[in-house]
Amino acid sequence: MPSITAIRGSFFDITAPVSQPEELPAHARYIEDGLLLLCEGEILSLQTWEAGQHQLAAGQPITDYRGKLIVPGFVDSHIHYPQTEMIGAFGEQLLEWLQQYTFPVESQYHCPQHAAKMSAFFLHQLLSNGTTTALVFGTVHPESVDALFSAAEGLGMRLIAGKVMMDRHAPDYLTETPEQSYRQTRELIERWHNRGRLSYALTPRFAPTSSPALLEKVRQLKEAYPDIWLHTHLSENPQEVAWVNALFPERDGYLDVYHHYQLTGRRSVFAHCIHLEDSEWDCLHQTDSAVAFCPTSNLFLGSGLFKLQTCWQKNVRLGIGTDVGAGTTFNMLQTLGEAYKVGQLQQYKMAACEAFYHATLGGAQALDLHHKIGNFQPGKEADFVVLDPAVSALQKLRCANSRDIWEKLFVLMTLGDDRNIACTWVNGKLVWQPQSEEKAA
Ligand code: GUN
Ligand code: ZN
Repeated sequence: MPSITAIRGSFFDITAPVSQPEELPAHARYIEDGLLLLCEGEILSLQTWEAGQHQLAAGQPITDYRGKLIVPGFVDSHIHYPQTEMIGAFGEQLLEWLQQYTFPVESQYHCPQHAAKMSAFFLHQLLSNGTTTALVFGTVHPESVDALFSAAEGLGMRLIAGKVMMDRHAPDYLTETPEQSYRQTRELIERWHNRGRLSYALTPRFAPTSSPALLEKVRQLKEAYPDIWLHTHLSENPQEVAWVNALFPERDGYLDVYHHYQLTGRRSVFAHCIHLEDSEWDCLHQTDSAVAFCPTSNLFLGSGLFKLQTCWQKNVRLGIGTDVGAGTTFNMLQTLGEAYKVGQLQQYKMAACEAFYHATLGGAQALDLHHKIGNFQPGKEADFVVLDPAVSALQKLRCANSRDIWEKLFVLMTLGDDRNIACTWVNGKLVWQPQSEEKAA
């Protein structure tokens, strides 16, 4: 008999994808005293304690998280693992920042030992911040991706990642030929795509570092592997957009460079999308492509303000990305707090319900993983995070002053950080709690 895990506590999730923020409250579920049953990494049921307790077998152990708030594991829809070691680099905007800080750091990932060490560190950062799934950039080196997938496999995490493809406008030590890029990417896909919970994303860095010949190779790979993901940057910074227009004058704007090579689609995720033309939003919608909104990165690099309202109006799927190391935290609560402020600067009020949707089911939808993760529906994979709603004196004061779950969630995303992550579960197993941090230290 497979064994059942029973968890008691308060639960919050969004039970169905929505197309307008106004629909969210009707799909939000809050169970103050709930019982979650898991079996072999899957969710069996979530119900009230009152209804569920009678179904428990005699002697069934119960993990008691009363006083905590349990939400689906956070989904980080855009992040660079090799940039962990250069987070918080001073002074530059995108193009200078890449040259001055990013490329030199990424040069180290040809070394399997370095890549393995940083992969372990990176995944530990994700889990200790409650993030259970991410869409991740490696470097141009296949070794970087082998190391990351191996480490994620060891933890049982659901992860999508890929090797950067890049053949121009970067230092020689990081560029490759289109043929090399094609061959190495193909080998990685064969090795890792659809292996357990791992999936592969074709990862051309962005249009300026991609020649037409390289983009043609990406197109061929997408055609050869129709269920593969595509992950890149789009329209992040005004100088970058001008550069793309100069490099590809025959194309009708930045997104059209990717669209021309058939790189838009249901499993395509474009990070940033700050300076899009109206027609580009329409193209994202028509091709069912998704967007990653990365507020801390956009503020830190001075890239601009993402138009969340337009994204809803254009009915484009959206996830939240931390974009470490241009982003300044791995923590999704802090990232949601910054997303709220980006909204405020544009007279858009992002309610907590919306914020937690983007970080969970919405993010899963953006990655086309909503049939596997994102909420507590029976049959989904059991990835979740146990939040302590109030850990500091200030949080305790403010939390005691909160009238309902909406206000509690909002205070959590405004004042919260990694201290609020009580523990993280992946695939039905406890994989991180603060004691493991102390042991590791
Ligand atoms: N555009 C191209 N490469 C990068 C990168 O590494 N980070 C960010 N934020 N934007 C990019
Ligand atoms: Zn990025």
